[in-house]
Formats: sequence, structure tokens, C-alpha cells
Amino acid sequence: MILLTGATGYIGSHLWIELLKGPTPVLGLDNLSNSSAKTLDVIAAISGKTPAFIKGDIRDVELLEDVFSRNCITSVIHLAGLKDVQESEERRLEYFDVNIQGFKNLLQVMRAHSCLKIIFSSSAAIYGQHAISPILEGVSAAPANYYGETKLEGERLLAQEFNKHPAISSVSLRYFNVAGKHASGLLQDYVSSNAHSLFAEIESVLLGRASALSVFGDDWGTPDGTCIRDYLHVSDLAQGHIDALELLGGVDKCAALNLGLGIGQSVYDVISTYERITGSSIPKVIAARRAGDVGVSFADTHLAAELMGWKPRKTLSDMCRDSYQSCTKRLS
Ligand SMILES: NC(=O)c1ccc[n+]([C@@H]2O[C@H](COP(=O)([O-])OP(=O)(O)OC[C@H]3O[C@@H](n4cnc5c(N)ncnc54)[C@H](O)[C@@H]3O)[C@@H](O)[C@H]2O)c1
Repeated sequence: MILLTGATGYIGSHLWIELLKGPTPVLGLDNLSNSSAKTLDVIAAISGKTPAFIKGDIRDVELLEDVFSRNCITSVIHLAGLKDVQESEERRLEYFDVNIQGFKNLLQVMRAHSCLKIIFSSSAAIYGQHAISPILEGVSAAPANYYGETKLEGERLLAQEFNKHPAISSVSLRYFNVAGKHASGLLQDYVSSNAHSLFAEIESVLLGRASALSVFGDDWGTPDGTCIRDYLHVSDLAQGHIDALELLGGVDKCAALNLGLGIGQSVYDVISTYERITGSSIPKVIAARRAGDVGVSFADTHLAAELMGWKPRKTLSDMCRDSYQSCTKRLS
């Protein structure tokens, strides 16, 4: 059985649907702090299967003990965590508690129950401001914020676990900018998020929660002056986890792999693609650059292709179309 933490969240719910297509049973765990139990009904409707779910917190060691005692968990996909860069600076203790201490608890209980395989949600945030794009996994990590620090610490914990006997094998997946929604448009964000991603902000405008999109700087040294990022469709990201599980099936490993499209696209590229799909313009205002932002960040994804045969299939248009579709379903 696979234990999926953060199962009802944005990435977790998309991944869960894909995992349910496979032969291995999945147990979802989430404390619902940033997601809703309504997602379980949607997962059931899309997959035709009843998702097995436990409401619980990864900081609760007794609960984790109980989960591992009652279920034969052979691998873990660990997505549960707090993810907002700005908030991580303001609420360091909480980010430490969930992203680092919670992860330590999970590893401790895994080891006690001889569960020796894990996929970990890492982030491009570990690279910081000075990495040159396309970013290779081998560059030295230098997070520019506490959120990135917590992800880097997670990778360090996994390196330590690999050096113990028996080794816990792991693949840390360093996600770039995850975007898009399930093609059905049915998976919604039931919890109003404080995440500051470009897609989340565009969706807020379309849903009438914000009057205009803020473009943080149009004077970067890029062809159109706006920041360049690497946007990856959430379904391609989900496939990356399935490929990583397969990779861990064969050999003991402690790997860290970038998952991105491997293409840099600017804020204006995203806006114009979105506008082409919706047929209407998105109101925007030019705001000051945000502290800690970097002009250009996109991934070199050759290692994921080489080690796992992973290849993203969806384009920026797919991301915008699926994101828009989920907004229209929500408004209807
Ligand atoms: N979305 C992105 O672009 C992105 C990029 C890089 C890395 N990540 C990482 O991927 C993971 C999933 O991200 P997401 O976008 O789906 O976020 P999300 O907030 O939608 O999902 C995270 C889930 O974890 C749950 N959770 C939080 N604290 C918990 C705890 N203490 N115990 C149990 N459950 C808890 C939340 O309720 C939520 O459902 C996170 O670890 C995030 O840091 C996300």
C-alpha cells in the first residue's frame, strides 16, 4: 500500500486520481488545514473508486504509529506541508514544525515499520536567486527564503536516512511552477488559498475575488520585461511521482530530480495564452518587484528523463485551458 500525505491538496488530489488507476492500494492522509473533505467525493466520482482516507496530522506520532500498524505501507509519497514563501518568513516556527519536524516524525515511524521507500515534494525554491537557468540539479543549493530552507532540510534528512542501515531510499522531486487542473474541471480549490502563484492570481481575477492581476515588475532583463518561470501541468507532475515510484522499485537510491517543462515562459506569455483561450483580456496592474524574486528560473530536466524516462506532455495552453475550465465549472 502507498501512503499519500497531503492527499486532498492541489497536487495530492490530482496524483491520487492517477495512482488509483494502478494496482497498488493508496491510503490518503491529510489534516485538511489547506484542503477540504469534499475533494474525496470528486476523487470518487472521477476514479470510480472510494478513496481510503484518514484525517490526521503528520505531527501526531501516535496517529502515524497507528496508521503504519494497521496498514501494510510499503512506500510513502510525502506531499503534506506548508508552501507559501511569504508566510514562511512570518511563521517560521509553524513551518519548522510541519515541514521539518513533521517530516522527521514520518521518517522515524517509517523506519520503525521497515517502510524504506519515499518520494518527497521538494521545490525549485531550494536553488535561490543566483542559480543560472536552465538549472541543473548539481548546482549548490542556496534558498532565498525559509520555505526553501525547509525543503532543503527535508532533502538533507533523506540523505542521512540513506546512510543508515537499512537505508531508506528516496527520490526528492524538485517541482518548478505547478499549474493547470484535472481535464474534467471538477477538482476545485475548496479552501481559499493564500498562495501567490501566477495561476492562482489569474483564477482569483476570473472568479471575481480580485479586480486585477498584479504583474510584479516589467523591467526585468527579459525580452518582454516580465519574470520568466517554468510552468508544468499538474498531471505531468503526477506522472513524475509514478515514474519515481517505479525507479525506487528497482534499486536503492537517494536522488533529487527537477520536474519542470524545461522551458522558460514569461508572465506576459502566460497572460496572453490565457487571454487567447478565454477570448477576453485579463485586467492587470504593474506592481513593484517582490523582494527575493529572480528574473529567470527554469529547469534542466534531462536527469528525470534519463533516470525515469519522464517526459512532460502538456503545454502552457493546456494549463491555461484546464485552469479556465475549472473556473467556469465553479462559476456555473
Ligand atoms: N504547488 C506548487 O507549485 C509546489 C511547488 C513546489 C513544491 N510544492 C510542494 O508540494 C506539496 C504539495 O503542494 P500543494 O500545492 O498540493 O499544496 P496544498 O496546500 O494544496 O497541499 C498540501 C496538503 O497538505 C496538508 N497539510 C498541511 N499540513 C499538514 C499536516 N501537518 N499534516 C497533514 N497534512 C497537512 C494540507 O491540508 C493540504 O491538503 C507541498 O509540500 C509543497 O511545498 C508545491
